Amino acid sequence: MVNHGMVLSALGTVTDPELHYDIVTLNMVRNINIQGDAVNVDVALTVQGCPLHQKIERDVEDAVMKLPGVKSVHVNLGVMNDEERRTAFSRAFQQSQKGKAQDGAASPARPTPPGPQSGAWSPLLEETSSTVVLGIASGKGGVGKSTVTANLAVALNRLGFRVGVMDMDIYGYSQGRMLGARQPAQANAEQKIVPWNANGIHVVSMGMFVQENQAIIWRGPMLGKMMQQFFTDVAWPELDYLLIDLPPGTGDVALDVATRLPRASLIIVTTPQLLAREVAMRTADVAHRAQQRILGVVENMSYIPLGGGQRMEVFGAGGGEALSRELEVPLLGQVPLESSVREGGDRGVPVLLSAPESEASEVFLQIAQKIDAAAHA
Ligand SMILES: Nc1ncnc2c1ncn2[C@@H]1O[C@H](COP(=O)(O)OP(=O)(O)OP(=O)(O)O)[C@@H](O)[C@H]1O
Ligand SMILES: [Mg+2]
Repeated sequence: MVNHGMVLSALGTVTDPELHYDIVTLNMVRNINIQGDAVNVDVALTVQGCPLHQKIERDVEDAVMKLPGVKSVHVNLGVMNDEERRTAFSRAFQQSQKGKAQDGAASPARPTPPGPQSGAWSPLLEETSSTVVLGIASGKGGVGKSTVTANLAVALNRLGFRVGVMDMDIYGYSQGRMLGARQPAQANAEQKIVPWNANGIHVVSMGMFVQENQAIIWRGPMLGKMMQQFFTDVAWPELDYLLIDLPPGTGDVALDVATRLPRASLIIVTTPQLLAREVAMRTADVAHRAQQRILGVVENMSYIPLGGGQRMEVFGAGGGEALSRELEVPLLGQVPLESSVREGGDRGVPVLLSAPESEASEVFLQIAQKIDAAAHA
């Protein structure tokens, strides 16, 4: 007959899709009730309306159903309170630290990071380096992180800075398309990868290594490895700014950036919607846990300019403002929703180059100025 311990160890194989650690470690399993061959499991989600709750529910069912003697599994989903959520994030963070040294079954194996004794992955990351490393994060997908990354890269370059872009969205890489580069990777004489030079921006992306639309199926540990390689195996020139386009979610990569690139600050992109703000808060939570600096918030798709100073607020209003207040960081700017922004991204000519007179271009330039002021404050 199935017992409590068996169920618990089965649940130890279920990972939270966002935090990438098992739900037992994260203290998400609240109660296990076994009645003969029927198992009831109470699971507390990190947030109300967690978009991934169905996956967690299914994974729990699958894991427990595999146990001999189990005929039915019922999952009751609840929600953590603020305190519990903070504990869960801090456990994920602790695990990520521990995971560097060990390959536990419950936590994804991670490559050994460079310790202080082994030096940084790249001169760009050394304590003495003057390169400002900025992660562009959001939590929710599709809010415009990559668009903001590409345009801020061009804007900072316009201000006279040497700018690099690292596309850490391994599955959904888009910087090649957005900045207008598509050649396969080239190596230099030292066998290091030469970044693309797209309109003066130095870019490294998964798009250099795979053919367009080819699916990438690497899992957790590979992601961490990838980031390391994007530093160690790339012939980065000297840079004033390195912008890292992060994948959506508060998971592995955000944690990796937080733990391995302590010099990196974050810029959080949100839309004016309440939900986007809440999800962005979770990303910020991870950053706070890791004591990572958040430079500011960029609100994207804020309004459609109607001319004569009139605006249509398609996605509501106030999300960016509220988020920046909660995080006690500046709202760096509100980027309008303009077709030239999307077209620029699709054509590989960012709006700052294709329509420099547009309102969005102006906003991106102002944001870049504020970033520069904040980064050197
Ligand atoms: N201000 C804007 N005006 C018009 N279109 C925009 C704007 N910002 C982003 N878009 C469009 O919205 C879509 C999503 O943007 P983008 O890919 O930058 O988001 P993302 O947050 O990086 O998404 P993902 O989470 O998938 O990485 C793209 O088609 C982009 O061109
Ligand atoms: Mg993106």
